[in-house]
Amino acid sequence: MILRIPGDAMVVLVGPSGSGKSTFAARHFATTQILSSDELRAIVADDANDQTATNAAFELLHTALAMRLARRKLTVVDATSVDGWARERLLAVARRLGRPAAAIVFNLPLATCLERNAARADRRLPSAAIRGQFDRMRGSLDGLAAEGFDQIAVLSTAGEVDGIVVELLPD
Ligand code: CTP
Ligand code: MG
Repeated sequence: MILRIPGDAMVVLVGPSGSGKSTFAARHFATTQILSSDELRAIVADDANDQTATNAAFELLHTALAMRLARRKLTVVDATSVDGWARERLLAVARRLGRPAAAIVFNLPLATCLERNAARADRRLPSAAIRGQFDRMRGSLDGLAAEGFDQIAVLSTAGEVDGIVVELLPD
């Protein structure tokens, strides 16, 4: 599948922990194009896992997102974004700056996310947390088209994720 994305877009990755968002982002985008909630937690707290740093991390994420979109810089938001309210905050930034918004949903089987989580060397979440994020991702699918994204890609197998080609369109 070819994903054609405007070069000035906001790209929101949606998926539970372990669904492969950061792996996908690193494969298809430059480091400077990716705003990662985990890295921003580490920037404020020296620890990507420190949940007390979440509000500060997202404040930085939204600020950097707005600054980049104002410059027409393609920006990938690497956070779970499995909650409608979290996506709405991101969409509000893109809308305010008049930039297109794309969502890529990592709708992989729960078992895949749990297996990858268990095998991780960097960060591991309790299975129950991943199950909760997975349920919220699945619960988001039906209403996603009405949220205001200009394009939505739902990837439902690891093969589909591996086969993606990203093509940036001139803006
Ligand atoms: N992984 C894998 N095969 C893939 C994609 C990911 O084996 N096709 C592995 C990664 O190497 C990593 C784990 O699965 O050890 C989770 O992938 P990651 O991209 O980090 O998942 P995220 O969705 O970014 O998880 P989080 O929300 O926790 O950051
Ligand atoms: Mg990640």
